[in-house]
This record gives sequence, C-alpha cells and structure tokens, in this order.
Amino acid sequence: MVEIDSLCFEHHREALGIGESEPRISWCFKGDSKNWTQASYEVEISSPLVNSCEPQLFCVNSSDSSLIPWPAKPLKARESALVRVRATGGSKSETTPWSQAFSVETGLLTRKDWTATLIGAERIKAPSGALRPILFRKSFEVEEKVKSARLYITAQGAYEPYINGSRIGDHVLAPGWTSYKHRLNYQTFDVTSLKKGENAIGVEVGEGWSSTRLGWGDGTRCIYSKRLALLVQLEVVYEDGKMMTITSDKSWKSTVGPRIASEIYDGETYDASLEVKGWSSPALDDKHWAAVEPMDFPNTKLQSPTGPPVRKTEFVKIQKVLKSPKGKTIIDFGQNLVGWLNVRASGPKGHTITFTHAEVLENGEIATRPLRSAKPIDHLILSNDPIVWEPAFTFHGFRYVQVENWPSGSPKKSDIEAVVLHTDMEQTGFFNCSDSMVNKLHENIQWGMRGNFLSIPTDCPQRDERLGWTGDIQVFSPTASFLYNTSGMLSSWLKDLAAEQIHDYKGVVPLVVPNILGLDSNTAQAAWGDVAVLLPYDLYTAFGDKEILRTQLKSMKAWLDQGIPRQSNGLWDPTTHQLGDWLDPDAPPSDPGKAKTDPHLVANAYLAHISAVMAKVSSILDRQDDFKHYTAEATKIKRLFQEEYMTSSGRLAPDTMTSLSQALTYDLFPTEIQKESAAKRLAKLVRASQFKISTGFVGTPLICPALSSTGNTQLAYRMLLQTKCPSWLYPITMGATTMWERWDSMLPDGSINPGSMTSFNHYALGSVGAWLHSTVGGISPAEGGAGWKIVRFEPVPGGTITSAEVKYKSPYGLVECKWRIESGKLKMTVRVPPNSSGVVKLPGLEEKKQIGSGVYDFEVGYKELEWPPEAILDPFALED
Ligand code: BGC
Repeated sequence: MVEIDSLCFEHHREALGIGESEPRISWCFKGDSKNWTQASYEVEISSPLVNSCEPQLFCVNSSDSSLIPWPAKPLKARESALVRVRATGGSKSETTPWSQAFSVETGLLTRKDWTATLIGAERIKAPSGALRPILFRKSFEVEEKVKSARLYITAQGAYEPYINGSRIGDHVLAPGWTSYKHRLNYQTFDVTSLKKGENAIGVEVGEGWSSTRLGWGDGTRCIYSKRLALLVQLEVVYEDGKMMTITSDKSWKSTVGPRIASEIYDGETYDASLEVKGWSSPALDDKHWAAVEPMDFPNTKLQSPTGPPVRKTEFVKIQKVLKSPKGKTIIDFGQNLVGWLNVRASGPKGHTITFTHAEVLENGEIATRPLRSAKPIDHLILSNDPIVWEPAFTFHGFRYVQVENWPSGSPKKSDIEAVVLHTDMEQTGFFNCSDSMVNKLHENIQWGMRGNFLSIPTDCPQRDERLGWTGDIQVFSPTASFLYNTSGMLSSWLKDLAAEQIHDYKGVVPLVVPNILGLDSNTAQAAWGDVAVLLPYDLYTAFGDKEILRTQLKSMKAWLDQGIPRQSNGLWDPTTHQLGDWLDPDAPPSDPGKAKTDPHLVANAYLAHISAVMAKVSSILDRQDDFKHYTAEATKIKRLFQEEYMTSSGRLAPDTMTSLSQALTYDLFPTEIQKESAAKRLAKLVRASQFKISTGFVGTPLICPALSSTGNTQLAYRMLLQTKCPSWLYPITMGATTMWERWDSMLPDGSINPGSMTSFNHYALGSVGAWLHSTVGGISPAEGGAGWKIVRFEPVPGGTITSAEVKYKSPYGLVECKWRIESGKLKMTVRVPPNSSGVVKLPGLEEKKQIGSGVYDFEVGYKELEWPPEAILDPFALED
C-alpha cells in the first residue's frame, strides 16, 4: 500500500509568508510496494479563509511528483490555500488515500504591499564602539475579535519580536545574513493570538551582521548600516472581515535596555539591573522613551526567505566542571558546538560573571589564541533577582567555557546549559558502519556542518572570520546536501553570489559571499570561484530542481566567460595568484597556500571540469548553442591541460595525490592506458605516504573516489582508517568532536598548531563524507537520475569494515541500503521509494541490475581483498 507521506511547496520547510505566488508542489511516498510508479495525480486546493468557495480539483496524467507546477491561479499577496494530493499508480492502478492537507500562504510580494516606514533609533555606542541594542515599542488597540493576524518584519540589524510580553516565533538572529545591498529577507509570523483591547509590540534590535565588526584584525564596523532600524507591518483581519494595520512609523518609541553590547565576534554584556520590566506590554508608560526617526524605505529587494531560519536546535548539558592548573573554573560540554549559554544565576546587584568560550584546552587552560581578535566573552551583571539569561545577537564556537566570579564559587551542572544554534534544515542523511572511529568521523562531519551552516555556509564559527568562503562550500556541498536538506538555504546564498558577482564585480566571484572583503587582483581564484558552476550543479543533482540551474545560469556563464582571467589560449592566466590545494599538510603552518601541487595545474584541471559541467548543464536546460560551445571549450581545455602537464605515458608534472586525483576524477586522460598508469602512480604515492593523507582542500574530496574507482579500494580504506597524523582519524585520537581546519590543528603533543589560522571547526576536510555515503554506504543519485529519481546502489566494501547502513530521505521517500559481510558472502538489503527506481552494482556481479520501488535482498560471494595493503618504505622506489 502506497501513501503520500508529506507535501512541500518549493523548498520550504514551513510555507507561511512565502515569496512565490505559484509555488511548485512536491510530495513523497511511504510504502514498500514493488515497482510502483505514479500514472496520475490529483491536487485539491481550497481556501481556508473563504469557506463558501468550492475546493478546486486538478487531475493530471503525469509521473512527476516533485516540483510540479502550481495548477491554480497565482496566489495574491497574503493569500493562503490548503492543498492535498492523491496519486494513482502501480500495476493495479490503485489510488492512494488523500494526503493530509498542508497550508501555504504568501507574504508581501511586491514593494506596493508595504506601507510601513523604516524607523531608526539614535546611535548609542557601547564602550567597545559597537552599537548598543535598542528596544522599540508601540501600544495599540485591537477593536474586535481577531480572525487572523500576521506580523511582517525585518531590520537593519538583527531583531527579536515580542507581543504583550511574549516572544514571537523562535527565530534567532533574524533576518539572517544576505547580501543586504541586493537582498534583505523579511519574516512572517502568525500572531492571531492578539487579544481584543490594548496590546503592545516590542522589538529588540541589535547589530546583527549589518553593523557589527566584521573581518579579521580590527575588522570594519557598520559595513551595511550605520544605525539600527526596524520595519514592521502587523496586519489584523477581524472576524467580520474588516482589516487593521499597525506599521512602524514615527509614533513608535525607543530606548536602550539591559544589553550594553551584543556583537557577533565579541560576545554580549548584559546588565540585569537595566531590564525594563514589561517593556513590550501595553501597561508600560513609555512617556520617557525617545522618539524614533523615520528613514528611507530600504533600497534593496525585500523578500521572503527561501530557506529555514536559524533556531535553537539542541540543549547540551555540562559534562564536567574542571579546575585548571591556574585554578580557573572551566566547564566542559563534551562537544565542540556553536551557539551560546543558557544561564540560571542569582547574586547581588552589580556582581559580574564572566564567561570565556574556547574550543580546546592547551596545558589544561582554555586556548583563545586561535580566535585571533575575536573576544568570545560574555559578561552577565546581576541585579539581586534570580535570572535566566541567554545572549541574543552573538554566537560562539566552543566546547569549554571558563567561568569567572560565579556567585557561589563554582556553577552546578544544572545552572548552565549550552544552546546549539544553526539554520534549521531537515536532517535527511544517516550513516553508520561497523567501525566506531569512522562513525565518530561521520558524527564530527555532521557537527562541523551544524556549526557552520548558520544563516550562510561559513568557513568557521569562532574566530574573526565566520564568512561565506566560497571554496569551503564548493568542496563540502555534496556531503552537506546528503546530510541535510540544503536546497532553500544554499539556493538563496547562490542568489547573493550571483547578485554580487554580476552587478558588482563583472563576473568575478568574490572570495566570500556576502562579500565584505572587496575585490582585488587576487580575488579570481579557481576552486573558490568555481563554486558558481559546481554548487548549482550539486544542488540539481541532489534535489532535481532545474530552476536552480536556470536561475544561476547567468552567474555560471559570467564566471566562465568573463570572470576567469585567462591567457590567450584559454587556460588560467599563469600570473594570477592561486590558493591552490590550500592546507596541503606539507605546507608550512605559516604559509597554507604553499602546496606540493602546482596551483595553476589545480586551476586548469578545475577549468576543464567546470567547462564539462557547463556543457552538461546546457544540455539539461536544452540550450543547444551553449551545449556546443561548452563542449568545444571542455575539449579544448582538456587538450591544453594534457599538452601542458601530461606525458604520453600518463605521468603528470607535478604528480601528487591531488593532481592525479583531479585528473582521474575529472576524466582528463586521453587514453585508457594513460589512465591506468596514472592510477598505478597514485597507488604508489599512497603506499609511499604510509597511507597518510597528503592533500589539501582540493584533493581531499577526490582521493578516495579516485582510488576506489580505479580498483584501488583497499588503499582508499587504508587511508580512511589511518590514525597517524595527518589522517581523517588522527583528530579523533586527540579527542576531536568536530572537523578541524588543519589536519594537525592540534599537534600530537597536545599543543596547538602555531599557524595563525587554526580552527577546530571547519567543514572542508569533512568532504570525504560524500564518499562514505556513496561508496562505503553505497547510495547516490545515479547519472541521469537527478534528485534521486534513479538511485545508484553500489557499495564497495573494504578494509576492516564488515557492515554499513545508510539512509536518505529523498524527494520520493526513504532510500536505504544495508550491507554486511558474513561467511564469505556480501548480503545487502535496499529500499527504493515509490515512483523512483534503482540501479544495483555489487562486487562480483557482472551486470548492473535495474530495480523498481520496493525492498530487495541481494547476496553475492565475497572474496576478501589483500589487507592490510603494503606500504612502500624505500623512498627511492618512487623515482621511476
Ligand atoms: C578560511 C578558509 C578559506 C581561506 C582561503 C581562511 O582564512 O578560514 O577556510 O577558504 O581562508 O584563503
């Protein structure tokens, strides 16, 4: 029996206040039915507000169940609909039960829908120079019983809204970070609980990313706005259909409250004695509050977000309270995480508790040097009354917190919790295998992602950066889009990238998006800028949405055709600076770009690859001229690459794990013989490295796929299972709970890498996750089966791993693959959701097997491969 499991509109997790008037609808299925494909569907659309209207029914003969076009009239601004779906399919042409009805509602769709005025408050500075958070408020009368009410709101800064003393919604650091000059998100909240009579709305606005200090060193303050400002439109529909709107305007009042400062990098100072009791309640007398200043309406595109907001997603308890050698009290949460503290304390007025956050300890003390100029310190000033406090406009990356001046000496475990913050995407991917250290690696990859998907995809969450570094997400995106549904968040970030690249920088992709670094002659960088082509394609592969490709097409082409500085033959200009195989473990700590692999080889290999990807994209979008053009480009760049770096025997100059992995996975060798000899050479390098990793950002996602796809599976597993430094498992032997920026962020003697760039929470080296999912676990979208329409089941067991299990919540339903090796047999069970299909390939099975939906068991004879593979100890053996 097949059922419809859930419905979604565009890529929204929640569809309140969306920006699309014709939202595409998707549904996924539950059920084990064999070979079930959909033949037709029915969509019923009704309007919850207009009871008199008959529901509209649309019957469509189509097998499409993902991102199907909105069948009804476009929704107007603020219009809502209830949608349910049923599908007919399978060999007996059975119809599923109706799905549950899901609601969709648009927000304010155009500038004309806004009547509110942006209001600014006086600039009040904290001692650090930061802008002090501001409380805005207004009381108002609700004359009748409320049928529905919506709050549309955004800020220059970050905001927290309250009505009648209660917090509205659960968003953190809203409106989130976008390229504010081009795009500013507003949010929509359901505030139907407004009561008849006197009400009040209060909104606290802090610096957020708009005005806070950003960038390393001294950074720059107020990059986007010099003052904090608020835009509010509260629309009420009474039971009798009459409407009433409250907007931000000059009748609002403002003041400062207990937050003296709350800065992204530098923490919060909170003085409880300055709390304004009842500040968002109607009873408050705000006569002494200051007037606000009406400002020009934001000169940017105001839009509803396409991805989920940042939320509190978990509370973590203290594991240990430690006393350091210097006598400091340090609390340990057992997990390096991103967020802030929830503190319950009481003490005399003026008593200040200090919390200093750190990712690691060095010699038993908190290590803050890696945080550079960021001051991850919160101060809580007490006021006699017991308080439960959390900061509002900062976040920290930490496992340890040094607590100074706790009123009773030392906090109890129940006094403090850590609050985990990140963009609240749905977790879609799950992995587990028989090796506990590999499982820990996977867990660390996931924590690395959680900490760094905070409104934008960042490099790190703790030091004076936390920026949307393009190269980092370029290498990590296939892993990320398996673990969580990144479609809404990353497609939004790509729009920022395109806006900045096209409008501001003539095709050059900034190094960080949103770009706060500006542009110079070093900005155009392979691997980093290549995200403009590779990320849209990764998202298309994971979510099957051609619209993302269409939206990004201009940006993809602008990078290839204008942004990349080229020499006359079409290869990268050899005089350009390249970050190259960044953080190659053999590069000196102070010079992470000094990799073994020629950075222009890296750049040109990428160029051949992205040209070929662009040809594929052109064909997917049915753009024949582009297809011809980019196919010819890809062929030309590949030939030039061969002429420049390859010998006729298949040697590369220079040949490193990274260069060989790039050439093998991007299919750059002209003949099979050259490919084979390159694969042998790679195997030799891996054996000669004693199975230690030798790649940086570029080679790391490619080395295991390059080995396992050329018959050197055991070498890939031997590298995966290596615990000596540098390797993926070495950090775990050192107690890591997240992915590190460097292979040796912490050195084997427990000291911290002397490099000035040493984070303990960077996802890039976790890009091996994609290989764990596709090859150890065994599932990925098959070629031609984007969005998991066709699932590739192809586990390649190896090493000492005897079983693995992966699950993925695909657009069609749950995909699963479980395998184990038992008594010389490989036994596998797979699940294909309804309306999709699978292609199975197992070691020893000559033929690929096509399967429809359902659950299937497979069993094949399994011959153990050589284990452990031998290392090459003689250094001269490499010189052939
Ligand atoms: C970031 C990296 C980034 C790199 C490139 C660093 O400071 O943390 O992850 O990609 O700079 O220069």
